[in-house]
Amino acid sequence: MSTSLWRKIVVFTFAVSILLPANVNACPPSDLAALLAFKAALREPYLGIFNSWTGTDCCNKWYGITCDPSTKRVADIALRGESEDPLFQKAKRTGYMTGSLSPAICKLDRLANIIVADWKGISGIIPPCISNLPFLRHLDLVGNQISGQIPLDIGNLHQLTVLNLADNKLTGSIPTSLSSLTSLMHLDLRNNMISGTLPQNIGNLRMLSRALFSNNRLTGQIPESISSIYRLSDLDLSLNRISGAIPASMGKMAVLATLNLDGNLLTGKIPASLMHSGISILNVSKNNIEGMIPDTFGTKSYFMVMDLSYNKLRGAIPKSITSASYVGHLDLSHNHLCGKIPDGSWFDHLDADSFSYNDCLCGKPLKAC
Ligand SMILES: *[C@@H]1O[C@H](CO)[C@@H](O)[C@H](O)[C@H]1NC(C)=O
Repeated sequence: MSTSLWRKIVVFTFAVSILLPANVNACPPSDLAALLAFKAALREPYLGIFNSWTGTDCCNKWYGITCDPSTKRVADIALRGESEDPLFQKAKRTGYMTGSLSPAICKLDRLANIIVADWKGISGIIPPCISNLPFLRHLDLVGNQISGQIPLDIGNLHQLTVLNLADNKLTGSIPTSLSSLTSLMHLDLRNNMISGTLPQNIGNLRMLSRALFSNNRLTGQIPESISSIYRLSDLDLSLNRISGAIPASMGKMAVLATLNLDGNLLTGKIPASLMHSGISILNVSKNNIEGMIPDTFGTKSYFMVMDLSYNKLRGAIPKSITSASYVGHLDLSHNHLCGKIPDGSWFDHLDADSFSYNDCLCGKPLKAC
């Protein structure tokens, strides 16, 4: 072998050994292009979170971007407008960003997490193609100005565990496909303008533990199937236009601890089972609930909050309430209750406000009968 060829081999090997790792680490050009298009549709004037988005290796210290270590495909976009990051501390402010979510992110088809949260000013729609991201587990767009509908095919996201679209301006109804999200654990749609009814087969969401729909424009009834969600611990349907009765089966749910139904158009009676279920926070205030408070309290009854105010409840406060293990905050005001408030130490911490504006309640802490 001639020395010149030998030298060439040495130089070549050396060049490969320094260039190869750089190539292996770089994100694929298509992911790079998608991220640059995503960035181009946004404007973040105060913090400079996108200043690090330069060069061709999006997997290398780009703020908020994480790549899969083996494939080098973009796996996470995590941009939070409220953060402890030094960037925020230096700027002494929370984030603000305008613009919209470019459909280019749908080309990042290895994405597991999309968190673009609390930027206050991002508007536009959720790109419908987001439903085609087969590995998406976490979609969090809370705290923006996002409008339009929840993508109709959202149910395609079989791996989705968290869907947080709260505090936006979403309209339209909840897609029926939502009930195909069989991995979903946390659903938060609070504070939007979502209308229509809850999906009838919402009970298919076997893994769901928190379902929060407060402050929308939902109509129709509470689907009976909701009580078949074994893991559901927190259900918030408050401040909607939901009508019909509270399904009796809701009092038999294994781990339901918080049930907020306040500020709706519910009618019918309070199911007897609700009074001795595992529910510890119950708010059915501001509905049209009628009948008597069920006389079914027992040692299983442990209420940190029981707010039944502003309904059409009649009759006396049931005697069994004195056998509840605990009743913390109680509000029975603004009903048509009548008769003697049961004796006992259970209400020592309660004042007259808990019982005011009824037809003819009497006894401690109100006036003697
Ligand atoms: C129950 O709901 C009503 C109506 O939305 C609200 O005003 C009240 O503060 C709630 N009660 C408690 C104890 O949180």
